[in-house]
Amino acid sequence: MVRLISETWAQAEAYLPEMSQTFYGLLFTLAPDTRELFPINVEVRRGKLMRAIAHVVQMVDRPDDLVPFLNQLGRDYRKYAVETRHYEAVGTAMLAALRERLGSSWTPEVERAWAEGYTIVARSMQQAAAADPSPARLTATVAEHRRLSWDLALLRVEPDAPVAYRAGQYMSVEVPQRPRLWRYLSPANAPRQDGSLEFHVRAVDGGWVSRAIVSHSQRGDVWRLGPPLGRLSVDRESGRDVVMVAGGTGLAPLRALVDDLARWGKNPKVHLFFGGRTRDDLYDMDELRGLAAVNPWLNVIPVIESGGGLAGAEHGTLAEAVTRRGAWPKHDVLVSGSPHMIKATVSRMLVAGTALDQIAYDPFTLD
Ligand SMILES: Cc1cc2nc3c(=O)[nH]c(=O)nc-3n(C[C@H](O)[C@H](O)[C@H](O)COP(=O)(O)OP(=O)(O)OC[C@H]3O[C@@H](n4cnc5c(N)ncnc54)[C@H](O)[C@@H]3O)c2cc1C
Ligand code: HEM
Repeated sequence: MVRLISETWAQAEAYLPEMSQTFYGLLFTLAPDTRELFPINVEVRRGKLMRAIAHVVQMVDRPDDLVPFLNQLGRDYRKYAVETRHYEAVGTAMLAALRERLGSSWTPEVERAWAEGYTIVARSMQQAAAADPSPARLTATVAEHRRLSWDLALLRVEPDAPVAYRAGQYMSVEVPQRPRLWRYLSPANAPRQDGSLEFHVRAVDGGWVSRAIVSHSQRGDVWRLGPPLGRLSVDRESGRDVVMVAGGTGLAPLRALVDDLARWGKNPKVHLFFGGRTRDDLYDMDELRGLAAVNPWLNVIPVIESGGGLAGAEHGTLAEAVTRRGAWPKHDVLVSGSPHMIKATVSRMLVAGTALDQIAYDPFTLD
């Protein structure tokens, strides 16, 4: 099945812009209410959704990788209020677009392979969504917007109902300045009595949503939040110490975990490497040092790639700084940051001798 899917996708992929015209045309005819889930300017040419589905369906023979991913994706889709008939419409549109492009290569065996693959994936996403007890969608009001630097802002939001998240998790967020463009953000605090969540947002170059949040969010804005996702956590009972590696705003979920640990007197030893290109990227250093001063289990190691200006900072990339001290064989390792930083750090640690099952990281992608 997977071989047939992969071979035919390889044949059709070059025609993604044309296929996705057919795909969206048919989808919005079969299920017109799906139109309002997609951005105002659907990026038809890039065929994001068709490409994503094809990528996932080609992994149905690798359930160990796929099942945890689909669990998260299915739960996350509760933010769209997706129903079974929407999955059916997407499946029909996907197969019709492929059939039109593939012509005589679209044999009954190929059709069966795609239909079965899609059904397995769609069913598993729906089951995960149905099993999740948390409210599908919440709203939260911005109570504070503070610029921490020219490209970074702290946002404190007050949800209308409690969000049942664990420190270290992240969630989808939609802001009024950019309707339908959901992005993931990680609360930087452990759950609080008053329920408020703090986000650290960095405006990335050319970024649609992050720049709008940093520059234009204001008190009173109402955000929508998806269900909490992610698997970063600290096992206080394991007897193992912890290495945390944070790049830029990747600090947020690790900061939330430290915040959570600080509620207890006795904790595993935590070595927190916090890195950025220059001193300015290490936006939360003063507060982290304050935390380390009162919590003897916490050791904060700032790491900068270039320039100076920060006493006690190590130089180089995070990957270099962490592996300089060896393989950390007795530690659990949590890595958080941009996909590039995660990849560089994890590969270097594996080469240094750290075992893959010691290392946990989000974002939760299949790459
Ligand atoms: C699990 C997870 C947790 C996250 N938590 C946070 C958080 O707490 N705070 C936060 O600020 N962001 C966080 N992000 C990143 C965030 O979700 C957005 O991807 C980011 O804000 C860019 O969105 P955008 O709409 O501004 O950029 P887009 O318009 O989507 O992209 C514009 C350009 O920027 C590039 N780009 C996208 N993301 C990044 C990035 N992270 N670094 C560098 N270049 C990028 C793209 O390749 C593209 O060229 C998290 C991401 C994940 C997957
Ligand atoms: C087997 C079924 C499906 C799979 C595996 C799947 C997977 C994905 C993935 C991985 C993305 C992220 C793509 C990216 O950011 O690059 C995505 C985006 C999206 N999906 Fe799905 N999806 C499925 C079905 C559906 C259905 C049924 C709907 C609702 C009708 C839907 C609506 C969306 C929307 C609105 C986006 C954002 C698109 C954008 O921003 O342009 N998906 N999908």
